[in-house]
Amino acid sequence: MADLLELRGVSAAYGRIQAIAGIDLSVPEGAIVALLGANGAGKTTTLNTISRLVPATTGSILFEGKPIERATSHAVVRAGISQVPEGREVFREMSVAENLEMGAYLRSDPRGIRDDIERAFDYFPILKQRYQQKAGTLSGGEQQMLVIARALMARPRLLLLDEPSLGLSPLLVEKIFEIIHRLNREGLSILLVEQNASVALGASSEAYILENGEVAVKGKSADLRQDDAVRRSYIG
Ligand SMILES: Nc1ncnc2c1ncn2[C@@H]1O[C@H](COP(=O)(O)OP(=O)(O)O)[C@@H](O)[C@H]1O
Ligand SMILES: [Mg+2]
Repeated sequence: MADLLELRGVSAAYGRIQAIAGIDLSVPEGAIVALLGANGAGKTTTLNTISRLVPATTGSILFEGKPIERATSHAVVRAGISQVPEGREVFREMSVAENLEMGAYLRSDPRGIRDDIERAFDYFPILKQRYQQKAGTLSGGEQQMLVIARALMARPRLLLLDEPSLGLSPLLVEKIFEIIHRLNREGLSILLVEQNASVALGASSEAYILENGEVAVKGKSADLRQDDAVRRSYIG
């Protein structure tokens, strides 16, 4: 399979704090790739660098073979990359429907947008029941569904998912991952950031483990799940 996304030697810093250094990472077309690591390892920075919310100080980022490391963040969304930020950041004072419309802010096809809102409701029926409700009044699980649905409104080919399981009950995590798998079966490639290694290794085909901003381990998820050192350090 060809690589949809490829990072080569990507670094990023906040002032003098080197957050990631020399990251090499690939997401094959159609894959779910997991990016794991402890708090502060550089996972979110990696996603933000791909989305161009944080500038890369070195390296190149190729999407469908084309360099995007100097594109604007809007151009990256237009190219087909959509990020689901960590922390379930919904627009709390806006309704569910308005949140979904915000996800389509770069589009100008009202009809397509309406169809895609219906499609989002098909993936997440609970959002349909809540569509006039202020997003701030939703439960944590519903807010996580809403931020995923909002990211899908940009019609991405690659979804960058930042810690979708954080703070959710096992039952809700299972529900969210059922939807992640359905999206993937229907053609969406996914780069999945997780601290929950057992969930992420179960859901992905390949995984990278970051330590202090560098790739410490990479391999097939099935192999890493059996690996004693990985189990000791990350699965517990
Ligand atoms: N806005 C910021 N300003 C300064 N340092 C930051 C900022 N965001 C993250 N960092 C630092 O960069 C490193 C990587 O953070 P982050 O990418 O958020 O890690 P993770 O998502 O794996 O928890 C950490 O040392 C963190 O403290
Ligand atoms: Mg993070």
